[in-house]
Amino acid sequence: MIDKKKVRLIAGCMRWGIWGYKMDKPGYQEMIQSCLDVGITTFDHADIYGDHTTEAEFGTAWRDMDIKREDIELISKCGIKLESKYGLKSYDNSKQYILDSVDQSLADLQTDYLDLLLIHRPSPLMDPEVLAEAVTALKKAGKLKQFGVSNFTTAQMTLLSKYVDIAVNQIELSPIRTAAFVDGTLDYMQTNDIQTQAWSPLALSQDLAELTTKKAQREQRITAVAEKNNWTRAELSLLFLKHHPAGIRPIIGTTKPERIKAAAETMKKSLTDEQWFEIWTAVKGQKVA
Ligand SMILES: NC(=O)c1ccc[n+]([C@@H]2O[C@H](COP(=O)([O-])OP(=O)(O)OC[C@H]3O[C@@H](n4cnc5c(N)ncnc54)[C@H](OP(=O)(O)O)[C@@H]3O)[C@@H](O)[C@H]2O)c1
Repeated sequence: MIDKKKVRLIAGCMRWGIWGYKMDKPGYQEMIQSCLDVGITTFDHADIYGDHTTEAEFGTAWRDMDIKREDIELISKCGIKLESKYGLKSYDNSKQYILDSVDQSLADLQTDYLDLLLIHRPSPLMDPEVLAEAVTALKKAGKLKQFGVSNFTTAQMTLLSKYVDIAVNQIELSPIRTAAFVDGTLDYMQTNDIQTQAWSPLALSQDLAELTTKKAQREQRITAVAEKNNWTRAELSLLFLKHHPAGIRPIIGTTKPERIKAAAETMKKSLTDEQWFEIWTAVKGQKVA
C-alpha cells in the first residue's frame, strides 16, 4: 500500500510540459525540489500528458537530481489513445497495449518500475480478465508495485476487482464535484480499502462572467464562506477534501513552487464538522435535510 502516513498531497504533472506551463528542465527540477522540500514525494503522470512528451521531460529532469528512486513514488496511467497519434480518440485496455505503454513510460520516466499504474478511463470494451493478465505480468516482471483505476464507477470497480486487486481509484473530487460523496463511490472505496485520489481538487473556475447564473451564484456563496473563515479558495477546497474520513489524497496541478508550499501548509490545518457543512451548504445552496 502507498504509505498513508506520508504527506497526502500528490503533485500532478499534467500541466508541467506542453499541455500547460511548458517548463524547461530547470523548471521541472525546481518544481520537483519544491515538492520534496515540503514532503510531497508522489508524482502523478500519464502516458499521454503533453502528447506523450511530459513523462520523458520529467525523467530527464529527476535523473539529474540527487534523488534516490525509492524516495519518490511515480504514478502513470494508460488506456487512452489520442487523436493526435491514432487519428481517433479511443480507449485500449488490451494486454499488449498496456504492456507496451508501461514499457514506454518506464523508459521515459527513466525508471525500472512504477509505484502505481492506473487505467485512465473505463472502457465499455474492457475485458477484466485480460486486464488482470496484463497487471499480473507487469507485477511478476517487477515493473509495477500497485495497480489502480481512474474515473471508475462502483460497478466497474466491482467487476474488475473480481480479477485483480485495485489499490486506488483516481476521481474528480472537489467542493464542486461532490457526486462521489453521496452516490456510494467513496463508501465502496472505504469498504474495500481502495485509496481515493482526487484530481482537479481545487475547482478554481473563477471567471464568473463565463459561468451560468446558477454556477456564478454558487461561486459567490463558496467565496463568502472562504472569506468568512479567512481561507483562500484553494485552502477551502483542500481542507474540505482533507476533512473526509476516506483519507482523500488531493492531486494538485499547480506549476508554481510557492503554491506547492502553500498547499502543504494548508494540509497542516483542519476543519470542524460544522465548517465542512458550512461549505457543503454553500455548494448545494440549501440546508441538509
Ligand atoms: N485521472 C484523470 O482523469 C485526471 C484528469 C485531470 C487531471 N488529473 C491529474 O490531476 C492533476 C491536477 O489537476 P488540475 O491541474 O486540474 O488540478 P488543480 O490543482 O485543481 O488545478 C490547478 C490549476 O489551478 C491553478 N491555480 C490557481 N490558483 C491556484 C492556487 N492558489 N493554488 C494552486 N493552483 C492554483 C493552477 O495554476 P498555476 O499552475 O499557475 O498555479 C493550475 O492551472 C493533474 O496534474 C493530473 O496529474 C487526472
